[in-house]
Amino acid sequence: MEKKWWKTAVIYQIYPKSFQDSNNDGIGDIGGIINRLDYLEELGIDAIWISPIYKSPQVDSGYDISDYQDIDPIFGNMEDMDRLIEECNKRNIRIIMDLVLNHSSDQHRWFQEAKKSKDNPYHDYYIWRDGKEGEVPNEMMAYFGGSAWEWVSELGQYYFHQFTPEQPDLNWHNEKVRQELYQMICWWMDKGIQGFRLDVIDLIAKEPDLCIAENGPKLHEYVRELSRSTFQKKPEIVTVGEAGNTGVESALLFSAQDGSELSMVFQFEHMDMAHKKENQINWVLPFDLLELKEILSKWQVELYGKGWNSLFWDNHDQPRIVSRWDNDPTYREESAKMYAMLLHGMQGTPFIYQGEELGMTNVAFDSITDYRDIAAKNLYDRMLGRGYTKEEAIELIQKDGRDNARTPMQWDKSLHAGFTKGTPWIKENPNYEEINAEDERKDPNSIFHFYRKLIQLRKEYAIFADGKYCLQDKENKESFSYLRSSDTEELYVVCSFVNGCSKVSIPERFLKDGVLLACNYEESLPEQLQPYEGRIYYRKKNAE
Ligand code: GLC
Ligand code: CA
Repeated sequence: MEKKWWKTAVIYQIYPKSFQDSNNDGIGDIGGIINRLDYLEELGIDAIWISPIYKSPQVDSGYDISDYQDIDPIFGNMEDMDRLIEECNKRNIRIIMDLVLNHSSDQHRWFQEAKKSKDNPYHDYYIWRDGKEGEVPNEMMAYFGGSAWEWVSELGQYYFHQFTPEQPDLNWHNEKVRQELYQMICWWMDKGIQGFRLDVIDLIAKEPDLCIAENGPKLHEYVRELSRSTFQKKPEIVTVGEAGNTGVESALLFSAQDGSELSMVFQFEHMDMAHKKENQINWVLPFDLLELKEILSKWQVELYGKGWNSLFWDNHDQPRIVSRWDNDPTYREESAKMYAMLLHGMQGTPFIYQGEELGMTNVAFDSITDYRDIAAKNLYDRMLGRGYTKEEAIELIQKDGRDNARTPMQWDKSLHAGFTKGTPWIKENPNYEEINAEDERKDPNSIFHFYRKLIQLRKEYAIFADGKYCLQDKENKESFSYLRSSDTEELYVVCSFVNGCSKVSIPERFLKDGVLLACNYEESLPEQLQPYEGRIYYRKKNAE
């Protein structure tokens, strides 16, 4: 089988609202992305995944789409989009669009029609149940809190929504809905879009009457139909399904090598670990390195040769990796590089979220009025409603909230980090004077240049894409080590997770005739790791 381009590629996620503003209205836009393509080219990434830029009332930051074939005016227009496609083509950067197929906005024409009457042709595009006001059909809850059922008194019916009430769920059991979505996807493919990230794809086949939200019985049947009707028409298309509730077994179907479904999925076990759900509140627990090793190793081993992994730490829904797991801020640079090595040494397609390549950190706003995320606002109200203090709510949002990832990209030291000359829609992180792209581009030892190097290594050495993974030194509570090997080459990756020195045993052959491809310290010792030290060794096997 010919090797797919995305197996040696690195993909960069853009959250357009916060990337670069080009007209100083305080909101990032397509023009801003175009202005920064040279930066992305310098970084060396192969493709950009852009979070939704379709027409949207922005209740959930664009994940509530009111027209799948139009651009929201805050981001520009279709001409800007065409220009972006053209400019990306010139630089060999592919574009991956974000597809939200599970739900639409309540402002979408389909929903506006659907709620007119029970016999409107669009009524069945959504999920309705007869009922009485105040007596919800069942106990299903929405992800952002509250019931999943919303009452429409004119119809005497409830409709189903897994996120906010402004995001009604599409009825995938209706063939017409599926066909409309497929046509829309083909339209984007004809425009030159070369990939898609599929929002909450594991939710599309829900069975609300059975209280099944995730992994409905018809899920893989639908994904195969979707794939056949769209993506498979062009072999270069890459697809990543967001599947927060998927296990290995289902991921093997999603990413089956025959291409019958998708290219890969985002699984979230390593993001959901160290959390505990209680009272619909997701609490953060202490980090456990052994658990992280177990989870990542399981995915590496179980998908080897049969499926394909995506590799990521950050995205627009997650806190920043350098702030996430009791990292010591003194070692921000070291740990940012360490996390990069740990991830980029694995098998799969790495994703870099904007600012991760600079070591951008979480933000700590003191007041809920500075937060913008609907999930954070809902959580705050819910916590206060249950008797928690404002401080307790803010503490949790500071630690785990989605706005940590959504503060403006830190370009330079000028006002608002060079993101906008207007008033940013969300405040910038005050640390932009120390952490910004301009400084890092000038400094050959920066996190930015470290990422550049890792991206290049993946292209240079086949072992990064092909090598078989094997966890090493499993019980070590201070460092994470693994081996990657093929018939002819091998890699040894070792990463410290502590802010002091720790003992390590690296196989003799790597110390003797291995090449140190990457390290976040200028000098290192054979048997000891410095705080958050990471190394990637490489050696040819025939050197034995
Ligand atoms: C996905 C998106 C998230 C959004 C949700 C509902 O999880 O990543 O940002 O809120 O789906 O569309
Ligand atoms: Ca703008």
